[in-house]
Amino acid sequence: MGGFVAARAYGQSAPAEKKPLRVALIGCGLQGVGVHIPALCQERLVAVVDPDTRRLDAALKRVREVSPATDTAAIRTFGDYRRLFDAMGRELDAVLIATPNHQHALPALLAIRLGLHVYVEKPLAHTIEETRQLVAEARRHGVVTQMGNQGQSSEGSRLLCEYVAAGALGQVHTVHCWTDRCNGFPDGYARPPARPVPQGLDWKAWLGPAPYRDYHDGLHPHDWHSWRDFGNGSIGNMGCHIINHAYWALKLGKPDAVELEAVNGGSGEYWPAGASIRWEFPARDGLAPLNLYWHD
Ligand SMILES: NC(=O)c1ccc[n+]([C@@H]2O[C@H](COP(=O)([O-])OP(=O)(O)OC[C@H]3O[C@@H](n4cnc5c(N)ncnc54)[C@H](O)[C@@H]3O)[C@@H](O)[C@H]2O)c1
Repeated sequence: MGGFVAARAYGQSAPAEKKPLRVALIGCGLQGVGVHIPALCQERLVAVVDPDTRRLDAALKRVREVSPATDTAAIRTFGDYRRLFDAMGRELDAVLIATPNHQHALPALLAIRLGLHVYVEKPLAHTIEETRQLVAEARRHGVVTQMGNQGQSSEGSRLLCEYVAAGALGQVHTVHCWTDRCNGFPDGYARPPARPVPQGLDWKAWLGPAPYRDYHDGLHPHDWHSWRDFGNGSIGNMGCHIINHAYWALKLGKPDAVELEAVNGGSGEYWPAGASIRWEFPARDGLAPLNLYWHD
């Protein structure tokens, strides 16, 4: 603020008006429509992308509700993010990606390579290799990025960091994190029978890079979290929100060891109905070694 006042006093021109960002929303599901559309209406939402026309309709309806002055006829709709980038890649400033986890890395990489700024929902990607690629490409292209673990900006998270830094808790030796969400199945769960693809859904575009399977119940919307081809189970869904606070406050880096202490169910194609995992972290920066436990 001091710099701004001084610049004006010397007769320099005022800072340019902030121009709204031209943004596209990729993935118009619960999070995209429920949470991101209202925020994006404060910028210039120029396109929405979803392989399900019912979700595209829901997105435009939501725009009309939260921003009646917006002309929704001017917002372009696409069933595939590759078509969005082909048609509008050079006209966009940023994209927001709120697709199922198996479709985070590809649109994010395409956007980054076009020099677009990218907000990707948590978890950043479906595999660790994808997260490494995304970090490397974002650095190479110098774009602004954010992952959607918004709890990091909460007062509770900042307070936790202050308590730990002020020594109010003393040395922390043990941390327990948990969720009551269940994104998995017990032993012996069978894939539901194939069903006709709902009208308006481009099933192949929804599957994207995942191996082909017939459409069945318990996938779209939202329930895909339990299936390894698309989601990352309870820990992938909630761990990045919950463990993040301890990770930040206690400066946890790489663990020395990770142990699966208990598991309920799970298979090669779906995540377990419950698990307990222990990470062993070494001493770091004046902080004692600690065990972090995850229970779901
Ligand atoms: N930050 C948070 O608090 C928070 C909360 C909920 C969900 N999320 C994250 O947001 C993402 C979406 O979750 P959701 O609950 O909205 O799921 P959802 O299933 O309701 O929505 C996903 C949408 O993406 C669409 N989609 C699928 N393939 C696509 C493609 N190729 N291009 C464009 N759209 C495609 C689907 O048709 C669906 O409408 C997930 O990664 C989830 O982890 C974050």
